[in-house]
Amino acid sequence: MTESVICVDKSNELPENVDSLIYIDKTPFTAVTEGKAEVLFPSSHDVFYNPVQEFNRDLSIAVLKQFALDPPKTKSKAKQADTSENSDIPGISVLEALSASGLRAIRFAKEVPNLSKVLANDRDTQAYLSIQRNIKHNKVENIVQATNEDASLIMYKNRSYKDRFDAIDLDPYGTAAPFLDAAVQSVKDGGKFIFVKILFFFLSF
Ligand SMILES: C[S@@+](CC[C@H](N)C(=O)[O-])C[C@H]1O[C@@H](n2cnc3c(N)ncnc32)[C@H](O)[C@@H]1O
Repeated sequence: MTESVICVDKSNELPENVDSLIYIDKTPFTAVTEGKAEVLFPSSHDVFYNPVQEFNRDLSIAVLKQFALDPPKTKSKAKQADTSENSDIPGISVLEALSASGLRAIRFAKEVPNLSKVLANDRDTQAYLSIQRNIKHNKVENIVQATNEDASLIMYKNRSYKDRFDAIDLDPYGTAAPFLDAAVQSVKDGGKFIFVKILFFFLSF
């Protein structure tokens, strides 16, 4: 992990559809590099980042990489990712339900082959804006999409058979128990796992 302070010209760096508040001036951001991602944090530190969790993110990526190489072949209808190293395998879809800066989701997109889609969700507005900024900064718009909803709500919204995710990452501040019912309902049949912090639950339906 490396850290540097850079100044982003917001008029050039930010997407047009985000809150006008972030166009006001040239606020300094801290750039943090972890794995293949570089994420920008406002100097006010109003979006969660914990460098101690780098190992946890590395572990999630290692497990997801293995899963993506051998996804449930008959069940997944996701379209193949253009950048896939394994273009004969259907791409998998991932939800990071509690994403903060988007760092983990962006690392998924850059480090895990064979992903069709990653949703990076956070209910906090500053976090959502940060995810949008970091998606653009890392040029992963083709894979990662930001959403600004309650984690349980977005999972319940995606519980119909066609919308379910191959993998769901839950990284809450405390227990993941409040999110488990929604997660179990929105993970694909045969798309087996939900991972929570450093515990991995392998589910088979
Ligand atoms: C521990 S941080 C996530 C860190 C991130 N996964 C990473 O690897 O850097 C937890 C995040 O969950 C968000 N959050 C808490 N409750 C939520 C809920 N019910 N729905 C959506 N986001 C929530 C917080 O705003 C915070 O950004």
